Amino acid sequence: MRAVEFQEYGDPEVLKVVQTETPEPGPGQVTIDAVYVGVNFADLKARAEGYRVESLPFRPGLEVSGRIRAVGPGVEGLHPGQEVAALVNSGAYAEVVVAETATVFPLTEGLDLRTAATLPTVLPTAHALLHEVGQLRAGQSVLVHGAAGGIGTVAGQLARAAGAGAVYGVVSSTAKAGHALKHGYDEVFTTDSFPDDARRATGGRGVDLILDPVGGDTLRRGLDTLAVFGRLVSFGNASGAEPWHVGQPELYAQGRSVAGFSVLALAQSASEALRSLTERAFRKVTDGTVTLPVTAEFPLSNASEAHRLMGGRTSTGKLLLRVAD
Ligand SMILES: NC(=O)c1ccc[n+]([C@@H]2O[C@H](COP(=O)([O-])OP(=O)(O)OC[C@H]3O[C@@H](n4cnc5c(N)ncnc54)[C@H](OP(=O)(O)O)[C@@H]3O)[C@@H](O)[C@H]2O)c1
Repeated sequence: MRAVEFQEYGDPEVLKVVQTETPEPGPGQVTIDAVYVGVNFADLKARAEGYRVESLPFRPGLEVSGRIRAVGPGVEGLHPGQEVAALVNSGAYAEVVVAETATVFPLTEGLDLRTAATLPTVLPTAHALLHEVGQLRAGQSVLVHGAAGGIGTVAGQLARAAGAGAVYGVVSSTAKAGHALKHGYDEVFTTDSFPDDARRATGGRGVDLILDPVGGDTLRRGLDTLAVFGRLVSFGNASGAEPWHVGQPELYAQGRSVAGFSVLALAQSASEALRSLTERAFRKVTDGTVTLPVTAEFPLSNASEAHRLMGGRTSTGKLLLRVAD
């Protein structure tokens, strides 16, 4: 079968198509004939800096949709030919993908394979950031960094549907603001001025909940932008800054909290919690609350082009790789 791997870290060109053995499922696993694969920012971080890479060559890819090819020993409730979406720890950039059954989700009525490939990372993550971790309550204000990207596009819509009082987005260029404004955001600020803009928009009160995938200076400035009793959820480190440490001086005075979330870490540590979270989140798509537009699609062999587009910080919505028809 064909897969896309890299043998060394570097620019998108390090992604190469390779011919490799077709895998067989082990106990508790299935193999999936991939139709679409979602592109995630984490795939770019893996290639550029070795994020979550334990050895080379490495095959990126966290989410796939397709049809079950084979089921391993002990697997119940899944069968060959069934249409599914799956979250995997790595390795989705391939014609055949191995997945643990705990994170394989049969497609429900009304969910097609193309849409399904956009969901396994973004949907549960955005839902958890706002609800399970962020504890958003109706009437509260939310600010989301990366508002025009995959997570941002869904978070804006979910926040609006939850009755947020105001939904603010932050993007790196004004060109992306239009996309965010169509997906739940009331106002969109740019990275350089977001603390002042958010204070102005809230009449000096500050924001109740901030979702931060950037880290570093952006996280620090976000903490200063929180309202009394405000919460910040950290869920990434796009800036590549040193890991953050937050202590009493930042938190005590105004009763602020900082929380964290990783969908991949949850898959490893509490797969049942992830499963019910994902089922709750997927219902937001099937009931029409959320749409996640695919803004560009590339053949698997051209994964490097998808990485170039996302890495250039001009992409909006979700990018997909097409593996088969
Ligand atoms: N913790 C989790 O479970 C989890 C799950 C999925 C994704 N994530 C994180 O969520 C973020 C969005 O992921 P995605 O896959 O949906 O990608 P995406 O948002 O579609 O595209 C990448 C995003 O990163 C931002 N970005 C790129 N380079 C950056 C830089 N050097 N500094 C700051 N921001 C930068 C871009 O926003 P601007 O150009 O507008 O700033 C863009 O929104 C990523 O940071 C990812 O690691 C976390």
